[in-house]
Amino acid sequence: APQELRYDGQTVVVTGAGGGLGREYAVFFGSRGASVVVNDLGGSFKGEGKGSQAADKVVDEIRSAGGKAVANYDSVENGDAIIKTAIDNFGRVDVLINNAGILRDVSFKNIKQQDWDLIMAVHLNGAYKCAHAAWPYFRKQKYGRLISTASAAGLFGSFGQTNYSAAKLALVGFTETLAKEGLKYNILCNVIAPIAASRMTETVMPPDVLGKLKPEWIVPLVAVLTHKSSTETGSIYEAGGGHIAKLRWERSKGAFLKQDDTLTPGALAAKWKDVVDFTNAEHPQGPGNALKILETASALPPNNPGEKLDFKDK
Ligand code: NAI
Repeated sequence: APQELRYDGQTVVVTGAGGGLGREYAVFFGSRGASVVVNDLGGSFKGEGKGSQAADKVVDEIRSAGGKAVANYDSVENGDAIIKTAIDNFGRVDVLINNAGILRDVSFKNIKQQDWDLIMAVHLNGAYKCAHAAWPYFRKQKYGRLISTASAAGLFGSFGQTNYSAAKLALVGFTETLAKEGLKYNILCNVIAPIAASRMTETVMPPDVLGKLKPEWIVPLVAVLTHKSSTETGSIYEAGGGHIAKLRWERSKGAFLKQDDTLTPGALAAKWKDVVDFTNAEHPQGPGNALKILETASALPPNNPGEKLDFKDK
């Protein structure tokens, strides 16, 4: 039989855990030995209002099943207070799931500054504030597991969601750098892009589709990535409807232009098919090897002797 993953003695903070995906994570960790901080501001999916009911309900649920949990009603913009709740009640923090989120969908033509600012404040600044508050504890104990929640909208774009897409992909860059800074402290940081039925998606997807996207089906991915046995870091995962997959960057072989005065726009245009050709592409862990490229480029014949570089104003 497969191993039962457990989190005994650990404290897990789940933001936005009063409903949707966050609730599923919180209930799971509570059932597997962890002490859980159930954070939720308790507002609408557009970020209006607040209340304690959403978080309280999930705490009650965990406790009545014999688990340990405590509520926190702060906005993720106030990450210090959320992590303080973990420390005050359980003395530690081992896992942080940046999950809280809202939507302000509007076409770019009609977007208002407040639609942009609020999405950035909750998704990006909120994740930053919570992670930054947990980070000293993670470093000190040489252990931490951080998940941030991106979205297909961020990875691929989505009509009417410039604000949300920008914030979500920003979390990828955030996570990739934190993975590097956290590595020697056994702090593993990953991004997930879930698809699941929740109040966020119930208005945009038909009921038969929603029935095949249960939020509890995202739990196993989060469970594996946050478990002490995991070694994965700095990566992006998609999960939805029972399908879990890893995403990575791809780099085309690219065009090589000789480094002389024939390195012109026209020369690049002539080799454009090489820039966009993904045959024998690589899957880079970092930027292109400039030195390797240097050697290759200087050995090449001139690019296009017909055109001379000339950026002078005429
Ligand atoms: P949801 O609306 O059910 O859950 C989000 C929770 O976050 C709510 O309980 C809400 O009260 C809470 N929240 C909102 N603003 C907060 C704040 N400032 N501070 C603390 N809590 C706050 O939505 P769902 O679907 O469970 O979303 C969870 C995460 O997954 C979000 O980050 C969302 O953007 C992301 N996501 C969800 C997808 C889906 O298909 N459901 C698709 C892609 C991403």
